[in-house]
Amino acid sequence: MARELNEVGVVGLGTMGAGIAEVLARAGLSVTAVEVTDEALARGRGHVEQSTDRAVSRGKLDPADRDAIFERIRFSNSLEDLASAELVIEAVPERMELKADVFARLDKICAPDTILATNTSSLSVTELSVVTGRPSKVIGMHFFNPAPVMKLVEVVQTVVTEPSVVEDVEALAERLGKVDVTIGDRAGFIANALLFGYLNHAVSMYENRYATREDIDAAMRLGCGLPMGPLALMDLIGIDTAYEILDTMYKQSRNRLHAPSPVIKQMMTAGLLGRKSGRGFYTYA
Ligand code: CAA
Repeated sequence: MARELNEVGVVGLGTMGAGIAEVLARAGLSVTAVEVTDEALARGRGHVEQSTDRAVSRGKLDPADRDAIFERIRFSNSLEDLASAELVIEAVPERMELKADVFARLDKICAPDTILATNTSSLSVTELSVVTGRPSKVIGMHFFNPAPVMKLVEVVQTVVTEPSVVEDVEALAERLGKVDVTIGDRAGFIANALLFGYLNHAVSMYENRYATREDIDAAMRLGCGLPMGPLALMDLIGIDTAYEILDTMYKQSRNRLHAPSPVIKQMMTAGLLGRKSGRGFYTYA
């Protein structure tokens, strides 16, 4: 019988963390959402406001339910506030040293049976687990962008994750209205391992002036029935996040499919990060 998790924490309130906090609160869980600075916290809160306001304006969410969502989220800038959480999901930027630092600190703050999950898309969950004194309680819980909309959660088990922890997290994913797939710990898991070779190829087509960005995107939307073309999707994911994912997968597999197209790094350096910075392959108002 899976343990019902009701008190949860989210660390990092960027696009993914804020979306995950919203999903958890919508499902009735009590959420402590942590960011380092007041500005980052306000930005995270802003993401949740924007997303829930949009749902209200589309008639998909009652204003009273939106208020209830906010009542269930405690915004905090202290990891110490996660002391009583049963599960914490880490969603800080995709860099091992940052994530390892959060895991080491959470390990000291949280109770020994608290499950520590990471939303990493490509880093090693095993490597993160061993910075804690509880590797068997560490797991991957990988959501997709936008988290309130995309149905999939990849549950990543390492060679030491306890089966009961996998069961608890699978049960939670289902309670959130998601569909879970459970896999072992390798870079990219299932979806990104298949998706990013394609995205990278689309970028190099664009970089080599083989076709315009509009034509590349139209071909995949209208010819293959995808909801979004690859360059628009790169902008949604974030150029910096896409770079980190490709780079990690490339370093792990040495598969040239994943060697980041040079323009991705250049865009990242120039601050063209996609939707979140207002400009990527496209420009956003
Ligand atoms: N936050 C919350 N809700 C959002 C949203 C957001 N950022 N963007 C869209 N929505 C909601 C809308 O409110 C709308 O909800 P209702 O149907 O309940 O009214 C619904 O999504 C559809 O939105 P739109 O009508 O505005 O636009 P659309 O039909 O073009 O859908 C989309 C937008 C859902 C983003 C769709 O284009 C899509 O599915 N794109 C592909 C996204 C994708 O592949 N994501 C995975 C990226 S890879 C990843 O995330 C892994 C990783 O590790 C990087």
